[in-house]
Amino acid sequence: MNATVTPSMARGVHVTPRLPPFVFDDPGVQGAWFGGDVGRTAAWNALSIVAGVGEQGIMDAGRWLVEHIDDPVVADETRRFVQQEAFHSAVHARLNRALASCGLPTDQVRDLVVSLMEECERLGGRATFLGAMLAGEQVIGEIGHALLDRPDTFDGAPESVRALWQWHFFEEVEHQAALHDGWTHVFGANKVARDRRVLGAAYALVLLIAAWPAASWAMVPAADRARRSRPSTWGSAYRQMFGSGGLVRGAARNLTALVRVDFHPFDMHDPVPTLDRLRDELVDPVWERPMRAVPAGAPVERPPLAPVGLWDLIGLARFAAFAVRRSLLFMWTVR
Ligand SMILES: [Fe+2]
Ligand SMILES: [Fe+2]
Repeated sequence: MNATVTPSMARGVHVTPRLPPFVFDDPGVQGAWFGGDVGRTAAWNALSIVAGVGEQGIMDAGRWLVEHIDDPVVADETRRFVQQEAFHSAVHARLNRALASCGLPTDQVRDLVVSLMEECERLGGRATFLGAMLAGEQVIGEIGHALLDRPDTFDGAPESVRALWQWHFFEEVEHQAALHDGWTHVFGANKVARDRRVLGAAYALVLLIAAWPAASWAMVPAADRARRSRPSTWGSAYRQMFGSGGLVRGAARNLTALVRVDFHPFDMHDPVPTLDRLRDELVDPVWERPMRAVPAGAPVERPPLAPVGLWDLIGLARFAAFAVRRSLLFMWTVR
Protein backbone atom coordinates (compact mmCIF):
# COMPACT_ATOMS: atom_id res chain seq x y z
CA MET A 1 0.00 0.00 0.00
CA ASN A 2 1.33 3.47 -0.86
CA ALA A 3 1.97 5.81 2.06
CA THR A 4 -0.32 8.83 2.17
CA VAL A 5 1.10 12.18 1.07
CA THR A 6 -1.10 15.13 2.03
CA PRO A 7 -1.13 18.25 -0.20
CA SER A 8 0.89 20.05 2.49
CA MET A 9 3.46 17.26 2.63
CA ALA A 10 3.66 17.22 -1.18
CA ARG A 11 4.87 20.82 -0.99
CA GLY A 12 7.30 20.10 1.84
CA VAL A 13 5.11 21.96 4.36
CA HIS A 14 5.27 20.36 7.82
CA VAL A 15 2.66 21.68 10.25
CA THR A 16 4.81 22.46 13.31
CA PRO A 17 3.40 23.47 16.72
CA ARG A 18 5.38 26.35 18.27
CA LEU A 19 4.81 28.15 21.57
CA PRO A 20 6.50 31.58 21.59
CA PRO A 21 7.25 33.37 24.88
CA PHE A 22 5.41 36.60 24.00
CA VAL A 23 4.13 38.64 26.93
CA PHE A 24 2.02 41.78 26.85
CA ASP A 25 2.86 43.52 30.10
CA ASP A 26 4.33 46.57 28.41
CA PRO A 27 2.37 49.82 28.57
CA GLY A 28 2.36 49.75 24.77
CA VAL A 29 -0.81 47.60 24.61
CA GLN A 30 -2.79 50.05 26.73
CA GLY A 31 -4.86 52.73 25.02
CA ALA A 32 -4.78 53.28 21.26
CA TRP A 33 -1.67 51.18 20.61
CA PHE A 34 -2.13 51.15 16.84
CA GLY A 35 -0.42 54.44 16.07
CA GLY A 36 -2.95 56.35 18.20
CA ASP A 37 -5.84 55.16 15.98
CA VAL A 38 -8.80 54.30 18.24
CA GLY A 39 -10.88 52.45 15.63
CA ARG A 40 -8.03 50.36 14.26
CA THR A 41 -6.89 49.44 17.78
CA ALA A 42 -10.43 48.40 18.78
CA ALA A 43 -10.89 46.32 15.60
CA TRP A 44 -7.65 44.36 16.20
CA ASN A 45 -8.34 43.96 19.93
CA ALA A 46 -11.78 42.60 19.02
CA LEU A 47 -10.19 40.26 16.50
CA SER A 48 -7.87 38.90 19.19
CA ILE A 49 -10.89 37.81 21.24
CA VAL A 50 -12.89 36.55 18.25
CA ALA A 51 -9.82 34.55 17.16
CA GLY A 52 -9.33 33.08 20.64
CA VAL A 53 -12.94 31.85 20.85
CA GLY A 54 -13.07 30.84 17.18
CA GLU A 55 -9.97 28.73 17.68
CA GLN A 56 -11.71 26.77 20.44
CA GLY A 57 -14.37 25.81 17.87
CA ILE A 58 -11.75 25.10 15.23
CA MET A 59 -9.89 22.82 17.66
CA ASP A 60 -13.16 21.07 18.46
CA ALA A 61 -13.75 20.52 14.74
CA GLY A 62 -10.19 19.22 14.26
CA ARG A 63 -10.47 16.80 17.19
CA TRP A 64 -13.79 15.47 15.88
CA LEU A 65 -12.23 14.87 12.47
CA VAL A 66 -9.21 13.12 14.01
CA GLU A 67 -11.61 10.63 15.64
CA HIS A 68 -13.04 9.84 12.21
CA ILE A 69 -9.80 9.67 10.18
CA ASP A 70 -8.48 6.16 9.62
CA ASP A 71 -5.20 7.22 7.98
CA PRO A 72 -2.41 7.86 10.54
CA VAL A 73 -0.63 10.38 8.29
CA VAL A 74 -3.73 12.54 7.76
CA ALA A 75 -4.66 12.16 11.44
CA ASP A 76 -1.16 13.26 12.49
CA GLU A 77 -1.34 16.40 10.35
CA THR A 78 -4.78 17.27 11.73
CA ARG A 79 -3.50 16.77 15.28
CA ARG A 80 -0.54 19.07 14.60
CA PHE A 81 -3.00 21.63 13.29
CA VAL A 82 -5.10 21.35 16.47
CA GLN A 83 -1.98 21.82 18.59
CA GLN A 84 -1.01 24.96 16.65
CA GLU A 85 -4.48 26.40 17.24
CA ALA A 86 -4.26 25.54 20.95
CA PHE A 87 -1.05 27.57 21.20
CA HIS A 88 -2.60 30.46 19.24
CA SER A 89 -5.54 30.52 21.60
CA ALA A 90 -3.24 30.39 24.66
CA VAL A 91 -1.05 33.29 23.51
CA HIS A 92 -4.08 35.40 22.51
CA ALA A 93 -5.45 34.73 26.01
CA ARG A 94 -2.32 36.43 27.40
CA LEU A 95 -3.00 39.52 25.29
CA ASN A 96 -6.71 39.40 26.12
CA ARG A 97 -5.92 39.34 29.85
CA ALA A 98 -3.73 42.41 29.38
CA LEU A 99 -6.62 44.14 27.59
CA ALA A 100 -9.03 43.15 30.38
CA SER A 101 -6.67 44.68 32.94
CA CYS A 102 -7.06 47.99 31.06
CA GLY A 103 -10.82 47.85 31.74
CA LEU A 104 -11.93 46.56 28.34
CA PRO A 105 -14.97 44.19 28.37
CA THR A 106 -13.14 41.13 27.08
CA ASP A 107 -15.36 38.65 28.99
CA GLN A 108 -18.54 40.12 27.53
CA VAL A 109 -17.10 39.99 24.01
CA ARG A 110 -16.06 36.39 24.56
CA ASP A 111 -19.57 35.51 25.79
CA LEU A 112 -21.05 37.11 22.66
CA VAL A 113 -18.87 35.04 20.33
CA VAL A 114 -19.43 31.85 22.34
CA SER A 115 -23.21 32.32 22.16
CA LEU A 116 -23.07 32.78 18.38
CA MET A 117 -20.93 29.69 17.91
CA GLU A 118 -23.20 27.58 20.13
CA GLU A 119 -26.24 28.73 18.18
CA CYS A 120 -24.43 27.98 14.91
CA GLU A 121 -24.03 24.34 15.97
CA ARG A 122 -27.50 24.09 17.54
CA LEU A 123 -29.26 25.28 14.37
CA GLY A 124 -26.84 23.96 11.76
CA GLY A 125 -25.79 20.64 13.29
CA ARG A 126 -22.33 19.17 13.64
CA ALA A 127 -21.39 18.92 9.95
CA THR A 128 -22.46 22.50 9.24
CA PHE A 129 -20.48 23.67 12.27
CA LEU A 130 -17.43 21.86 10.86
CA GLY A 131 -18.08 23.58 7.51
CA ALA A 132 -18.19 26.95 9.26
CA MET A 133 -14.87 26.27 10.96
CA LEU A 134 -13.45 25.17 7.60
CA ALA A 135 -14.50 28.49 6.05
CA GLY A 136 -13.03 30.34 9.01
CA GLU A 137 -9.70 28.66 8.33
CA GLN A 138 -9.79 29.73 4.68
CA VAL A 139 -10.58 33.33 5.59
CA ILE A 140 -7.87 33.52 8.25
CA GLY A 141 -5.33 31.87 5.93
CA GLU A 142 -6.08 34.38 3.17
CA ILE A 143 -5.81 37.31 5.59
CA GLY A 144 -2.49 35.74 6.62
CA HIS A 145 -1.22 35.74 3.04
CA ALA A 146 -2.30 39.37 2.55
CA LEU A 147 -0.80 40.50 5.83
CA LEU A 148 2.52 38.70 5.43
CA ASP A 149 2.89 40.16 1.94
CA ARG A 150 2.72 43.65 3.44
CA PRO A 151 5.40 44.20 6.08
CA ASP A 152 4.06 47.69 6.78
CA THR A 153 0.66 46.38 8.03
CA PHE A 154 1.65 46.81 11.68
CA ASP A 155 3.52 50.09 11.35
CA GLY A 156 2.74 52.02 14.51
CA ALA A 157 1.93 48.92 16.60
CA PRO A 158 4.00 47.78 19.61
CA GLU A 159 6.53 45.06 18.90
CA SER A 160 4.80 42.45 21.10
CA VAL A 161 1.48 42.74 19.23
CA ARG A 162 3.16 42.77 15.82
CA ALA A 163 5.16 39.63 16.72
CA LEU A 164 1.98 37.87 17.97
CA TRP A 165 -0.01 38.44 14.79
CA GLN A 166 2.89 37.72 12.45
CA TRP A 167 3.67 34.39 14.17
CA HIS A 168 -0.03 33.56 14.22
CA PHE A 169 -0.56 34.34 10.54
CA PHE A 170 2.65 32.54 9.54
CA GLU A 171 1.17 29.37 11.06
CA GLU A 172 -2.26 30.07 9.53
CA VAL A 173 -0.55 30.02 6.13
CA GLU A 174 1.41 26.90 7.14
CA HIS A 175 -1.72 24.95 8.14
CA GLN A 176 -4.28 26.51 5.80
CA ALA A 177 -5.01 23.16 4.12
CA ALA A 178 -4.89 20.90 7.19
CA LEU A 179 -8.53 21.08 8.33
CA HIS A 180 -9.75 20.96 4.73
CA ASP A 181 -7.71 17.82 4.06
CA GLY A 182 -9.04 16.17 7.23
CA TRP A 183 -12.60 17.04 6.18
CA THR A 184 -12.04 15.71 2.64
CA HIS A 185 -10.61 12.49 4.04
CA VAL A 186 -13.76 11.93 6.12
CA PHE A 187 -16.48 13.28 3.82
CA GLY A 188 -14.87 13.20 0.36
CA ALA A 189 -14.84 15.81 -2.42
CA ASN A 190 -18.37 15.46 -3.75
CA LYS A 191 -21.47 17.60 -4.22
CA VAL A 192 -23.01 16.75 -0.84
CA ALA A 193 -19.80 17.66 0.99
CA ARG A 194 -19.44 20.81 -1.14
CA ASP A 195 -22.99 21.94 -0.31
CA ARG A 196 -22.34 21.42 3.40
CA ARG A 197 -19.06 23.38 3.17
CA VAL A 198 -20.86 26.26 1.43
CA LEU A 199 -23.67 26.26 4.01
CA GLY A 200 -21.03 26.32 6.76
CA ALA A 201 -19.31 29.25 5.03
CA ALA A 202 -22.62 31.16 5.03
CA TYR A 203 -22.93 30.56 8.79
CA ALA A 204 -19.32 31.71 9.31
CA LEU A 205 -19.90 34.83 7.27
CA VAL A 206 -23.03 35.74 9.26
CA LEU A 207 -21.15 35.13 12.50
CA LEU A 208 -18.22 37.33 11.49
CA ILE A 209 -20.40 40.13 10.09
CA ALA A 210 -22.44 40.20 13.32
CA ALA A 211 -19.68 39.66 15.87
CA TRP A 212 -16.67 41.63 14.63
CA PRO A 213 -18.28 45.10 14.39
CA ALA A 214 -20.14 44.59 17.68
CA ALA A 215 -16.94 43.42 19.38
CA SER A 216 -14.98 46.36 17.93
CA TRP A 217 -17.66 48.72 19.22
CA ALA A 218 -17.31 47.26 22.70
CA MET A 219 -13.50 47.42 22.68
CA VAL A 220 -13.33 51.20 22.42
CA PRO A 221 -12.03 52.41 25.82
CA ALA A 222 -14.45 54.32 28.04
CA ALA A 223 -12.45 57.53 27.60
CA ASP A 224 -13.09 57.42 23.84
CA ARG A 225 -16.75 56.33 23.89
CA ALA A 226 -17.94 59.70 22.55
CA ARG A 227 -16.02 59.03 19.31
CA ARG A 228 -17.52 55.58 18.79
CA SER A 229 -20.46 56.64 16.64
CA ARG A 230 -18.40 58.91 14.38
CA PRO A 231 -17.63 57.33 10.97
CA SER A 232 -14.17 58.96 11.02
CA THR A 233 -13.22 56.76 14.02
CA TRP A 234 -13.63 53.64 11.89
CA GLY A 235 -12.47 54.87 8.46
CA SER A 236 -8.86 53.76 8.80
CA ALA A 237 -9.78 50.28 10.13
CA TYR A 238 -12.34 49.85 7.33
CA ARG A 239 -9.81 50.82 4.64
CA GLN A 240 -7.17 48.49 6.09
CA MET A 241 -9.58 45.54 5.95
CA PHE A 242 -11.93 46.20 3.03
CA GLY A 243 -10.39 49.03 0.99
CA SER A 244 -8.51 48.65 -2.26
CA GLY A 245 -5.88 46.00 -1.54
CA GLY A 246 -7.43 45.47 1.94
CA LEU A 247 -6.53 42.45 4.05
CA VAL A 248 -9.97 40.82 3.65
CA ARG A 249 -10.18 41.19 -0.15
CA GLY A 250 -8.32 37.92 -0.84
CA ALA A 251 -10.49 36.10 1.69
CA ALA A 252 -13.60 37.16 -0.22
CA ARG A 253 -12.15 35.68 -3.43
CA ASN A 254 -11.34 32.49 -1.54
CA LEU A 255 -14.92 32.19 -0.27
CA THR A 256 -16.31 32.47 -3.81
CA ALA A 257 -13.94 29.65 -4.89
CA LEU A 258 -15.39 27.41 -2.15
CA VAL A 259 -18.35 26.53 -4.38
CA ARG A 260 -16.21 24.27 -6.54
CA VAL A 261 -16.56 20.57 -5.69
CA ASP A 262 -12.79 20.09 -6.04
CA PHE A 263 -11.86 23.31 -4.19
CA HIS A 264 -8.57 23.21 -2.33
CA PRO A 265 -7.04 26.06 -0.26
CA PHE A 266 -3.79 25.83 -2.21
CA ASP A 267 -5.66 26.75 -5.42
CA MET A 268 -5.48 30.35 -4.24
CA HIS A 269 -1.89 30.47 -3.03
CA ASP A 270 1.14 28.26 -2.83
CA PRO A 271 2.18 28.67 0.82
CA VAL A 272 5.82 27.70 0.22
CA PRO A 273 7.26 31.02 -1.08
CA THR A 274 5.74 32.95 1.84
CA LEU A 275 6.86 30.40 4.44
CA ASP A 276 10.40 30.13 3.03
CA ARG A 277 10.77 33.90 2.82
CA LEU A 278 9.64 34.60 6.38
CA ARG A 279 10.51 31.49 8.44
CA ASP A 280 13.82 32.82 9.79
CA GLU A 281 12.29 36.23 10.51
CA LEU A 282 9.00 35.31 12.21
CA VAL A 283 9.42 31.97 13.98
CA ASP A 284 12.18 30.48 16.10
CA PRO A 285 13.08 26.75 16.22
CA VAL A 286 13.35 26.95 20.03
CA TRP A 287 9.58 27.60 20.15
CA GLU A 288 8.85 24.20 18.57
CA ARG A 289 7.05 21.67 20.78
CA PRO A 290 7.27 17.94 20.03
CA MET A 291 4.08 15.99 19.40
CA ARG A 292 3.41 12.73 21.17
CA ALA A 293 3.34 9.83 18.70
CA VAL A 294 -0.04 8.11 18.61
CA PRO A 295 -0.30 4.51 17.39
CA ALA A 296 -2.64 3.91 14.48
CA GLY A 297 -6.14 3.22 15.73
CA ALA A 298 -8.68 0.73 14.51
CA PRO A 299 -10.49 1.54 11.24
CA VAL A 300 -13.31 3.98 11.86
CA GLU A 301 -16.71 4.19 10.28
CA ARG A 302 -17.20 7.32 8.17
CA PRO A 303 -20.29 9.23 9.30
CA PRO A 304 -22.89 9.80 6.58
CA LEU A 305 -23.40 13.37 5.42
CA ALA A 306 -26.99 14.48 4.83
CA PRO A 307 -27.67 16.56 1.70
CA VAL A 308 -28.42 20.22 2.34
CA GLY A 309 -32.18 20.80 2.21
CA LEU A 310 -34.84 23.40 2.84
CA TRP A 311 -34.65 23.02 6.63
CA ASP A 312 -30.95 23.83 6.49
CA LEU A 313 -31.70 27.10 4.72
CA ILE A 314 -34.41 27.91 7.26
CA GLY A 315 -31.86 27.18 9.99
CA LEU A 316 -29.43 29.63 8.35
CA ALA A 317 -32.11 32.34 8.24
CA ARG A 318 -32.91 31.73 11.91
CA PHE A 319 -29.23 31.95 12.75
CA ALA A 320 -28.90 35.27 10.88
CA ALA A 321 -31.87 36.67 12.81
CA PHE A 322 -30.40 35.43 16.11
CA ALA A 323 -26.93 36.84 15.31
CA VAL A 324 -28.26 40.31 14.45
CA ARG A 325 -30.55 40.41 17.49
CA ARG A 326 -27.87 39.12 19.88
CA SER A 327 -25.20 41.53 18.56
CA LEU A 328 -27.47 44.58 18.71
CA LEU A 329 -28.53 43.66 22.25
CA PHE A 330 -24.88 43.24 23.15
CA MET A 331 -24.01 46.69 21.77
CA TRP A 332 -26.88 48.14 23.81
CA THR A 333 -25.65 46.53 27.05
CA VAL A 334 -22.03 47.75 26.63
CA ARG A 335 -23.03 51.27 25.54
FE1 LIG B 1 -5.00 30.30 14.74
FE1 LIG C 1 -6.00 28.30 11.71
